[in-house]
Amino acid sequence: MTAETKKIAAARAALAEVPPDSLVGVGTGSTANHFIDLLAAERPDIRQTVASSEASAARLRGHGIEVLDLNAAGTLAIYVDGADESDKHLRLVKGGGGALTREKIVAAASERFVCIADDSKLVATLGAFPLPVEVIPMARSLVGRAMVKLGGDPALREDVTTDNGNLILDVHNLHITDPVALETEINQIPGVVTVGLFAARPADLLLLAGDDGVTRLTR
Ligand code: 5RP
Repeated sequence: MTAETKKIAAARAALAEVPPDSLVGVGTGSTANHFIDLLAAERPDIRQTVASSEASAARLRGHGIEVLDLNAAGTLAIYVDGADESDKHLRLVKGGGGALTREKIVAAASERFVCIADDSKLVATLGAFPLPVEVIPMARSLVGRAMVKLGGDPALREDVTTDNGNLILDVHNLHITDPVALETEINQIPGVVTVGLFAARPADLLLLAGDDGVTRLTR
């Protein structure tokens, strides 16, 4: 089974987690795109969503699904999104698609966070995937130096401006043994908008697709 087929299987499994007639938070990336397409095709009861990126909002609207401003939406029943890495405690690295800030906001506004991924994303220790950090442009060098002090090797993501008008540093070579502590520490650096560690608020359910089907992992 290819990674793409597994992503589709995980996205399809998430449809069953979406309560009838609910307001759904929708993530960003190739796995989330499969979820959007399946939602449009197979869940006609879902007519309103909140999106974690302009790209996902455009895809949803392309299917005729309404996308609300989060400020008008209140608490969402469920948020469905992919990840770049997950450990067995459902602590995630996210932001490979650059949408980490809005993803963290929509996840925080949701009662339940369902993560969908192929089985290559499950890791023993987070950090092999470079950790994305969204930064205010004038703080790029300051935050980069702070990342070096933490043992990382930051690289500016070339030619990328986030939906919020900021930059992304991808921090290589971090071996993340205490994700909650590192998330807290990086969040406190002036100029950091969001770190792509989702550990203080991990996923509630991971639907992990492999060759033998979709496995449900909970905390
Ligand atoms: C975007 C993300 C994505 O969820 C993450 O990059 C996974 O992407 P994909 O589903 O394409 O593998 O965090 O910011």
